[in-house]
Amino acid sequence: MNTEPETMRAVFARAYGTPQDLEIGDFPKFVAGPGEILINAKALGVAFHDGLQLAGKHQIKHQMPYVPGMEIAGTIAELGDGVEGPPIGTPVMALSKGNAWAEFAKVDASQVWPMPEGVRFVDAAALSMAYSTAHCGLRWEADVQPGEVVLVTGASGAVGQAAVEISKLMGAKVIAVASTDERLAMAAEYGADEGINYTNASVKEAVMELTGGKGVDVAFDPVMGSLFPDVLSSLGWGGRHVIIGFAGGEIPKIPSNRLLIKNRRALGMVMTYYRYTETDKMRETADTLLGWCRDGKIKPPVAKTGPLEKAPEFLTEIMERKLIGRAILEP
Ligand SMILES: NC(=O)c1ccc[n+]([C@@H]2O[C@H](COP(=O)([O-])OP(=O)(O)OC[C@H]3O[C@@H](n4cnc5c(N)ncnc54)[C@H](OP(=O)(O)O)[C@@H]3O)[C@@H](O)[C@H]2O)c1
Repeated sequence: MNTEPETMRAVFARAYGTPQDLEIGDFPKFVAGPGEILINAKALGVAFHDGLQLAGKHQIKHQMPYVPGMEIAGTIAELGDGVEGPPIGTPVMALSKGNAWAEFAKVDASQVWPMPEGVRFVDAAALSMAYSTAHCGLRWEADVQPGEVVLVTGASGAVGQAAVEISKLMGAKVIAVASTDERLAMAAEYGADEGINYTNASVKEAVMELTGGKGVDVAFDPVMGSLFPDVLSSLGWGGRHVIIGFAGGEIPKIPSNRLLIKNRRALGMVMTYYRYTETDKMRETADTLLGWCRDGKIKPPVAKTGPLEKAPEFLTEIMERKLIGRAILEP
C-alpha cells in the first residue's frame, strides 16, 4: 500500500520575503477539515494584498510554509465534516485567507458563493475580492445615491477600477485620481467622467473646479498616503471618506477638526467584517456582482493569465506598479 502523502502543485513561501522567494512545486495536498471546503481551482487572482502578506506587512499573518492567494474560482471538490453543500462539482467564487495558489484551494465553507451560468472562472476570480471590496465600501458604508459625486483614488488599481465601474452603475458621477494619463485613460474606459493626474495637479483644486466649489459626496480611498490631506479637503458638506487601504505606504492621522467643520464622516471598511460578520450583506454583494458579470454590466479587466509558475512575475509587476488590469493564475 502506498503511504506517501498526496501532493498537489502549489506556489508556496518558506518565509516572509519577496515574490522572487516564492517556490513552485509539489506541496502536501490540502484536505477539507471540519467546516471547510476544497475547491478544484480554475482561476486564482494575484493582488497587492498578496504582496503585503508575503512581505509580512499585512494584518493577516501566516505560519510557514504557506500557500499565498485569497481570490478563487473553481468547482467544489470536497466538503469537510458538517458542511452540507454546495454539491461536488458546483462552480463557485470563493475567498480565503491564503491557501489559494495551488491546484486545490482550501476555504471556510462560509466563504463560497455559487456562480451563475455564463460567468467565466477568470472573471469570477478577478471580481471576488476587488469588486466585493468596492461594492461593500460604496453600498454598505458610503450608501452612494444616484447623482452623487464619488472621488476614487488608485482608480486604475484592482479595487479602484472596480469602484469606478460600480459607482457608475449606482448612478454616481465619478472623478478618477491616478498617477499617469495612461492609468486615467483606463479609468475613463470603465466609466470615469473626469480624471485628475495627481503628479501634475492638486487634487483639491481640481475637484473644486470640477464640482463648482462644492466638493465631492464620497471619497473611495484605497491609497491614503500623501494624497490623504488633499482628498479629505475635497469632501463637501456631509462628505463620506471610505478608508480602504494604504497602497500609498503611509498611514495618515485624521485631523478631527476637519471632519467636524463640514460634518464629514470617516468610514473604515474591511472585508473581514462583511465576510465573517455581515454575512447576509456579503452574500447580497456576491450575488449582485456575479449577476452583473453574467449580464455584461461589469467587465473585470483581466490583462494577463498564466500557469502557477507565473506567480512571482505577476506579483512583481503589481508591487512595482507596472501592471494595469488584473493578473490571474490558471493552475
Ligand atoms: N479594506 C479591505 O478589505 C481591502 C480589500 C482589498 C484590498 N485592500 C487594500 O486596498 C489597497 C489597494 O489594493 P489593490 O488591489 O487595488 O492594489 P493595486 O491594484 O496595486 O492598486 C493600488 C493603486 O494605488 C496607487 N498607489 C499610490 N501609491 C502607491 C505605492 N506607493 N505603491 C503602490 N501603489 C500605489 C497606484 O495607483 P496610482 O499609481 O495611479 O496612484 C495603484 O494603482 C491595498 O492597500 C490593499 O491591501 C483593502
